[in-house]
Amino acid sequence: MCGIIGYNGHKNSIKVLISGLKALEYRGYDSAGIAYYNGKRTEIIKTAGRIANLEKKLKPNIHSNIGIGHTRWATHGKPNDVNSHPHRMHKFTIVHNGIIENYEVLKRELIKKGYKFKTETDSEVIAALLDFTYNSEKDVLKTIAKAEEKLIGAYALGILCDDEPNTLYATRKDSPLIIGVGEKEHFIASDVPAILKYTNKYLILEDNEIAKITDEVTIYHDMKAVTKDVLTFEGDLEVAEKNGYDHFMLKEIHEEPTVIKNTTEPFLIHGLESLLKKMPNFTKYKRIEIVGCGSAYHAGLVGKAIIEKYTNTPVTVYIASEFRYQKLFTDKDTLVILISQSGETADTLASLRKIKSQNVDSLAIVNVVGSSLAREAKETIYIKAGPEISVATTKAYLAQVAILSLIALNIGHKQGIISENKANEIIKSFEALPSYLEEEISKNYKNIAKALYKKNISFYIGRGIDYALSMEGSLKLKEISYIVSMCYPAGELKHGTISLIDKGTNVISVVTDKAIADKTLSNIKEVKSRGAIITLVTTDEIAKEFSGADYIATIPKTNDFISPMITAIPLQLISYETAKLRGCDIDKPKNLAKSVTVE
Ligand code: F6R
Repeated sequence: MCGIIGYNGHKNSIKVLISGLKALEYRGYDSAGIAYYNGKRTEIIKTAGRIANLEKKLKPNIHSNIGIGHTRWATHGKPNDVNSHPHRMHKFTIVHNGIIENYEVLKRELIKKGYKFKTETDSEVIAALLDFTYNSEKDVLKTIAKAEEKLIGAYALGILCDDEPNTLYATRKDSPLIIGVGEKEHFIASDVPAILKYTNKYLILEDNEIAKITDEVTIYHDMKAVTKDVLTFEGDLEVAEKNGYDHFMLKEIHEEPTVIKNTTEPFLIHGLESLLKKMPNFTKYKRIEIVGCGSAYHAGLVGKAIIEKYTNTPVTVYIASEFRYQKLFTDKDTLVILISQSGETADTLASLRKIKSQNVDSLAIVNVVGSSLAREAKETIYIKAGPEISVATTKAYLAQVAILSLIALNIGHKQGIISENKANEIIKSFEALPSYLEEEISKNYKNIAKALYKKNISFYIGRGIDYALSMEGSLKLKEISYIVSMCYPAGELKHGTISLIDKGTNVISVVTDKAIADKTLSNIKEVKSRGAIITLVTTDEIAKEFSGADYIATIPKTNDFISPMITAIPLQLISYETAKLRGCDIDKPKNLAKSVTVE
């Protein structure tokens, strides 16, 4: 949700800023801009639209060693040239990721002091507040610290001041920011891939810390210099490149077998013994609550189905934006599991803080190492998905399901519901899972996509765990292809929504749970007899017994612990191929952004 980048060093900052912005474009892509010091003054170049538009506006041969850049996902004010970042007020130029909640109050106060605003944004207020504070403080560091006392909301900021043209400042609160550490050059960025071309060393800025970057970097906390650990990013540059795939989404789907191996292997390397040793003891909890947004919430629904089937522990799954304002029924016997790829989703983070304030235990299932959720939760399990660039999640979702499945196995065995033999059998199946996934990925889903792409509406139906999987399939389709897609529990359709089914309406049904397959297959017949075109995602075993589908994607019959992940592959690839036929911008769907750091 907005990406910021900054550079101070011996290279031409323009190149660094543009390449950083390209790597951050997944965070927002409705406008972009840079500010740089050209040896005489700070210049700003910004524009509505993609970074490619910004590049067109840049004159060749501009040279600068210090600058800041921004790629925007509009919150306050239309995505036009004026509202684009950077924003400047007299001596201060800033880029901002986040939302200033009290900007209207601050703006009114600053207007009274004589400030004139050009934009509709909350961010311009920060530049004005800094300029106003600086008039009395006369010191940039003190100015930033003082201004932060007045700001309510979330922010990561890159700051330039005309009086110190060779210094880059940065600070943050509740929005992510890292400092890249190179040889006599430093970077600020919303995410590590933005700096990987230049360095894999970075440090994490904590809330309200201020970075002062000259040819060295000093981090201040409460105005005192503090030492920080320099971390090394373990991936490589390839993660930020498409490597011959048409889209990051397709590349990331192809990475899924490796991601699942990397995520599960540490827990299974020495069989059951590793699982029992490496996973925290969850059997002390009487209840589990799972909290997440979007696909992370859908992963939670799959997790609930597996945990409840194989353990005695009841699970409730919540959408984080609702959970954070709901009455809590948690107590010392409750474990709250928070799921998030980015680890920075504002509502999920607020949910964690809410339960922490009541001393409730938390487990975060997170991808981004060192993210806020990972640092603040009582326990953290990392999925090993690596950076996910496509806005629509695929590999992170799958890895979240994998961890939940292992949690179910762990609790189920400890509660005596899954015998040692059975547990070992399931663990063996996890070893085979990457090759099952590979097989599904290699299949061709173009025929099914051809049936879907011309219609502007489709329905997904499923029962139990298949409903949870359908929810994610439906979200994937609508977010990247813009086909209106509704997902219903299969038995619920006839209570109203079936009135929308007509000749030619696409209905995609997931049927993998043999125990309740007949019920869903009857529901499929109901919609088929009203003219629906049926796409069935099912196991080879169930497929043999049902002939009512127009299109079919079969998966092998395995077990309840790995089958959901195998089923997700056709759902992801059907959406991908459909969006491709519709000519959509698959990696950057309209109105969306990765890492939703605002409420
Ligand atoms: C959908 C998608 C979103 C995210 C959601 C949560 O493809 O990517 O629904 O799953 O915004 O994001 P994280 O997992 O970063 O908390």
